Amino acid sequence: MKTQFNFYAKGLFLLLGLMSILSSKANDLVIIPVETAHNALLLQTDADKRLLMTYFGAKLADRDDYKLISSQNNQADGNGAISNHAYTPAGTWNLLEPALTITHSDGNVSTELQYVSHTVQQTTPDIKIVSIILQDPVYKTTVELILKVYIDEDVIEQWSVITNHEKGPFTMQKYASANLSFIAKNYYLTHFHGAWAREMKPEQTMLTHGIKTIDSKLGTRANLFEHPVFMLSLDKPATENDGKVILGTLAWSGNFRMDFEVDPSHNLRVISGINPFQSEYPLATGKEFKTPSFIWTFSDKGIGEASRQLHRWACNYRILDGNGSRLTLLNNWEATYFDFDQEKLVALFADGKKLGVDLFLLDDGWFANKYPRNNDRAGLGDWKPNAKKLPDGISYLVKEAANAGIKFGIWVEPEMVNPKSELYETHPDWVIRQSERPEHYFRNQLVLDLSNPQVQDYVFGIMNNLLSKNPGIAFIKWDCNSVIFNAQSTYLQKTNQKQSQLYVDYVRGLYNVLERVRSAYPTVPMMLCSGGGGRVDYEALKYFTEYWPSDNTDPLERVFIQWNYSYFYPAIASCNHITDWSKVSLKYRTDVAMMGKMGYDIVVNNLSENELKFSQQALKTYDSFKDLVWHGDLHRLASPDENPYASLMFVNGDKSKAVVFNYVVSNRFDITLSPTPIKLIGLDPTKKYTVKEINLFPGKSSTLKNQTAFSGDFLIKNGFNPDLNQHRTSVVLEVTAE
Ligand code: GLA
Repeated sequence: MKTQFNFYAKGLFLLLGLMSILSSKANDLVIIPVETAHNALLLQTDADKRLLMTYFGAKLADRDDYKLISSQNNQADGNGAISNHAYTPAGTWNLLEPALTITHSDGNVSTELQYVSHTVQQTTPDIKIVSIILQDPVYKTTVELILKVYIDEDVIEQWSVITNHEKGPFTMQKYASANLSFIAKNYYLTHFHGAWAREMKPEQTMLTHGIKTIDSKLGTRANLFEHPVFMLSLDKPATENDGKVILGTLAWSGNFRMDFEVDPSHNLRVISGINPFQSEYPLATGKEFKTPSFIWTFSDKGIGEASRQLHRWACNYRILDGNGSRLTLLNNWEATYFDFDQEKLVALFADGKKLGVDLFLLDDGWFANKYPRNNDRAGLGDWKPNAKKLPDGISYLVKEAANAGIKFGIWVEPEMVNPKSELYETHPDWVIRQSERPEHYFRNQLVLDLSNPQVQDYVFGIMNNLLSKNPGIAFIKWDCNSVIFNAQSTYLQKTNQKQSQLYVDYVRGLYNVLERVRSAYPTVPMMLCSGGGGRVDYEALKYFTEYWPSDNTDPLERVFIQWNYSYFYPAIASCNHITDWSKVSLKYRTDVAMMGKMGYDIVVNNLSENELKFSQQALKTYDSFKDLVWHGDLHRLASPDENPYASLMFVNGDKSKAVVFNYVVSNRFDITLSPTPIKLIGLDPTKKYTVKEINLFPGKSSTLKNQTAFSGDFLIKNGFNPDLNQHRTSVVLEVTAE
């Protein structure tokens, strides 16, 4: 009996002892609230020192309440296979999609990550950097999770740094940038697919159990089929002004992958990073690997607010000269294609001046001699001016443009090569290709191997040569028209590196070149172009002032394309050109281009007298409100997907001025286009506003009645009717506080 008592007593003490260990561990649990102005993400350790993401949403009023969250939460499955780990490793307890997989130096494929320490640094009143060190208890390899918090913008930029502390090199199969967990009733993912001239088509889907992946394997021009951006609504599909929504994007100009996994307990895990597809990456002892940034914002007041947060962040912190100004321009691509010479161009300078734009942009076709660039089948790679077309070189053009009173810009595509070029003949080893296999072309061209430092020098040299010899060059259009086929690098082979590094090292090589271009030429504006909109992301936009959304310049298509880009990128960065791609009225084309950075790609001489007069006046009108479009708040009022028209407005900071764009997007007969007023957003209800139609075609007068003052309250609650109809297919309104 006594022995039995002793046995039970010992058992009880052991149990109490264990409990006290658990509770003392529980007392030691680390809680890391990562807060923006309105939102909070909660990271905390569990009894096994794993770092979990236990909360995301509106920030709690009392910080102490974060301690209570884990007591209310049962996200992890009792058997341990389901987890909300903040950076899920593979090969140990986790059986879901991992963020990190490593084959260690001894061949072992298991990794565990435990919390070691963290720091929080307030670097400016608006920026906080949370850094957390996780470590594998067996291999000592570390992962540093970094969350850079832009407080006022409600934006989080996060990345990870993986460091090899093992005795030998290891190989990473997957190395994500971010691993997030969410809890909601339902999850609605909107992603954006496309193809050439059909960019940014949204598709919404309710996420079901299992994994939905959006990715790219195209190497360069990586966004051609799928853009590295998404919208994620929690509980129910968010609308413009209602609902909980995350806008997320990976800042990486190469292959990306985003996994959305709804687990059996209905938690959502989002893992985003470089696409592991054929991209095993080795890491030597003592070396670190920094992943690209995953950037995201959250609003519980709908998509509009989330977009404005991202726009503010992008202008303040990311896009080159995001708060500055931009140049209007006349481009010669659609006007001449490859068919020009210097006389023709000088005449076009005069046309640009007559039109009233700031700059003339010389497009493709100005270079190469042995294999002249007279079409897209030859010459890429040979960046000497073509002596027949431009006997006096680029400097002559820069000088003549200055004489004509207009700035000069130029097109380049320095990452590419045509097989019919001197560059290809002299340096086939600089080209990404499989020497034993047939070449496969995209737009008759191949991609240079930017993993090779010599090729990086060459590409930098092209830019340096152009810009140092011609300091008058005031604008660059940097194009990238091909994807990567036959991904194989002679350089990696010769230097005994892995071919699977190519996709990553290419992008790193590109950034290296862009860094060098920017340190030598920090301010020259550059447009990011990729056969239309095949490359735009928030890493590339560190180096570029703007991007080309699509080669499709049909204004009706552009209403949709520009609308969809506007969820993620601010209007100041969107190059919108008026062209002859469609027969839609010049006024409509101009009004559509005005909702971003306006430019022209037309034959000025073909304009009628009235059209020229209209365009000259339109540029002046644009001058009067461009500051609103570039730096104001965007409110999308009526979606072209849901209405026979689209309507959107930009408002300045003190709500004293706004511009409203309205475009008919349906030509169906007998449609009453705007039977009801369109409710304006973002105005001050207590102010009085005059609403005036602007940008009218010569000889046309506005049909708008009652152009007296309206209260902001009226315009917000009742709205304003722009009187859209088949004779008034686009209407621009200027709203000014009295
Ligand atoms: C790409 C661009 C166009 C034009 C051509 C020139 O297609 O998107 O705007 O510059 O290249 O070849």
